[in-house]
Amino acid sequence: MHVGVLTGGGDCPGLNAVIRAVVRKGEMYYRDQFVGFLDGWRGVIEGDTLALDSQKCADIVSIGGTILGTSRTNPYKIEGGVEKCLATLKHHQIDALVAIGGDDTLGVANKLAAQGVAVVGVPKTIDNDLSATEVTFGFHTAVQIATDAIDRLLTTSESHGRVLVCEVMGRHAGWIAAYSGIAGGAVDILIPEEPFDVEDVCRNVTNRRSRGRSGCVVVVAEGATPKEGSFSVTSSEVDQFGHVRLGGIAIRLAEEIEKRTGFETRTAVLGHTQRGGTPTAFDRVLATRFGIAAIDAVHDGGAGMMVALQADRILRVPLSAGVGEPKLVPHEFYEVVAKPFCG
Ligand code: F6P
Repeated sequence: MHVGVLTGGGDCPGLNAVIRAVVRKGEMYYRDQFVGFLDGWRGVIEGDTLALDSQKCADIVSIGGTILGTSRTNPYKIEGGVEKCLATLKHHQIDALVAIGGDDTLGVANKLAAQGVAVVGVPKTIDNDLSATEVTFGFHTAVQIATDAIDRLLTTSESHGRVLVCEVMGRHAGWIAAYSGIAGGAVDILIPEEPFDVEDVCRNVTNRRSRGRSGCVVVVAEGATPKEGSFSVTSSEVDQFGHVRLGGIAIRLAEEIEKRTGFETRTAVLGHTQRGGTPTAFDRVLATRFGIAAIDAVHDGGAGMMVALQADRILRVPLSAGVGEPKLVPHEFYEVVAKPFCG
């Protein structure tokens, strides 16, 4: 078969491991030939391709980013975009497409599947907010990077007797903040799902001081909002999937903490360090399992499906299930696991 492969949306550690697994198993077991589309759906719209074979995929399992490049291009928001996609797929005689992405990329895949394109989805995102899979690759790496950062921030905050506010990614879902905050022993963990009270945060910081600890780290997800709703943290810039660019909550929160407690407060915004660099071993293995399952799905009737991890098994679910409601941090998890050790 002729199989197309693309990576779309924000990059994430493990993308190359998926590409490698798809191509190597496809060549070895099914004698497939591959075409890589560059920069996600942009490459399909514009016919921008890269020849993909096992040679090209050698030694990329440990490398971050994606050899195919990525973008947030949405064919459904571009004049004639879908028609151009269909024409490119026909031109390259693509029998099936493996689309590796988050809810935006797989949302497009789902719509194209409804238009008759044989497409198999692979879920990726450091945010871990895709439904129907218990975890996405990239999340584990991002949590480790954030936890390492919190460990480092804690020692410097203790040396100087400061509060450190650490901002991590997480637009709608606070999985990275919750996991790294728990692992790093944060004094407070603020996530988009649970609007926070600045006074509570200040109380937790002050309580820790009163126990004789000079420093502390507050972990805040970029999409977290105060109950008061008084922080202005968004920019007006919107991408083709309608997302505003977030960032700035840590700075606003640090100002408030310093003003209300009198403790010197600093910020660290981890930003794209969470998406870069080498994937953890866990993410390499999960990405490899997803890749193998995706190329198998291409060959045995799995078009229109997304591979997913459930109870440590790789299953297939309809693409529509993966791109439905985002998977948020449950209130119970936040209350029972994340919050009890805050303060
Ligand atoms: O991929 C998801 C994500 O990491 C979000 O957590 C974050 O808000 C967004 O990407 C940042 O996107 P960009 O790299 O386009 O600024």
